[in-house]
Amino acid sequence: MIKLDLTKVAPVVEATEMKDYAARVAAAQQSLEDGTCPGNDFLGWLHLPSSITPEFLAEVKAVAKTLREECEAVVVAGIGGSYLGAKAVIEALSNSFQWLVNDERQNPTILFAGNNIGEDYLSELTTYLRGKRFGVINISKSGTTTETALAFRLLKKQCEEQRGKETARKVIVAITDARRGAARTCADKEGYKSFVIPDNVGGRFSVLTPVGLLPIAVAGFDIDELVRGAKDMEQTAALPLEENPAAQYAVARYALYTKGKKIEILANYQPKLHFVAEWWKQLFGESEGKDKKGIYPASVDLTTDLHSMGQWIQDGERTIFETVISVETPEHTLLFPSDDENLDGLNFLAGRRVDEVNKMAELGTQLAHVDGGVPNIRIAIDRLDAYHLGQLIYFFEKACGIHCQLLGVNAFNQPGVEAYKKNMFALLGKPGYEKETEAIRERIAGEKR
Ligand code: PA5
Repeated sequence: MIKLDLTKVAPVVEATEMKDYAARVAAAQQSLEDGTCPGNDFLGWLHLPSSITPEFLAEVKAVAKTLREECEAVVVAGIGGSYLGAKAVIEALSNSFQWLVNDERQNPTILFAGNNIGEDYLSELTTYLRGKRFGVINISKSGTTTETALAFRLLKKQCEEQRGKETARKVIVAITDARRGAARTCADKEGYKSFVIPDNVGGRFSVLTPVGLLPIAVAGFDIDELVRGAKDMEQTAALPLEENPAAQYAVARYALYTKGKKIEILANYQPKLHFVAEWWKQLFGESEGKDKKGIYPASVDLTTDLHSMGQWIQDGERTIFETVISVETPEHTLLFPSDDENLDGLNFLAGRRVDEVNKMAELGTQLAHVDGGVPNIRIAIDRLDAYHLGQLIYFFEKACGIHCQLLGVNAFNQPGVEAYKKNMFALLGKPGYEKETEAIRERIAGEKR
């Protein structure tokens, strides 16, 4: 089980103070359970792990098997909650050099698109796919997201041209709403295999639906274990505050926030966790950043970023706290090499595990940051495997749900995301946006004068 260490949030927040939140946490938990919290249409994630059946997992794995057999590359088209969970898990579980190693398990290369509007990115992707046996997983709950729709238009056409309509029908899978949106209409019309994103699960809470599970299974990873980990954490995270690490993390964040710690930096000491932090940033950022409230979620990869952001963290404005994800046991063993000349003076480390050096860097950094006035939360997982990632995913989801109740915001909407879309469509002259187009053009002309 995940181990949470809150001893280093003191003296900013003392352990005794944390206990004072027990009643508020119980109320927050209750409001999630009985659906009386704001955004209660989107609580499908709460008992999602325990509601996943072996039959459903078998269906996901069967579709994954087809894609694995038929494709050397699979492009996952999606943005935000429709890609970050899959990307996080796949990257965390993959060989760091997956692009270069000879993959004995014959996994298809998993590529991501539809998460940007970069002309070069899309051109280079379609060029790479030329002549390749590729498939597409098109993920969009609304089915109207521009970034994803653009990528899917390009990929569908290319796949049909390269592989023929009939094969394309086998290797294009849609994951979308049961009834609404262009992705649903297209899937039904073309006869694609499709999965439904439940109405009551929002994008950033959807990694344990086919949104995350299918790409992860196609990549060759164990979705049974992922779900098992989440299920175990679902039980633990339902307990009262004193036995519930997710609630304790939520309380520590909230107590720090009320004391002026407005930025949380999620730090990891394993490069493979980079996208777990990206997923986490979306989960917390989009859930709590509203009504002019919310902790700003930032992240660093350590020790890499100690050589870039380390100065700021150690000595910049004291509005931050740090949360470290630490992996107890690495998958491989590598010893620090000895060197006859010892020019770098590091022979004292010869024969010791590289991970020991990493762990001492972690501990040394934690102590230095605490001394520098940065409260520190430590989350430890035993291994970086599917089971522990499943735990971590649900741990953060539950903590986010509880924290948003403490903060008093609706965790499950994202009204702010619409502002850029409205301006973009107005600028591009989308039909139906005539008034907005006129207004924004006038505004821009006025700013130039
Ligand atoms: O968490 C969310 O709701 C968002 O990040 C969405 O997942 C993202 O905007 C993509 O939306 P859609 O799946 O409708 O294309």
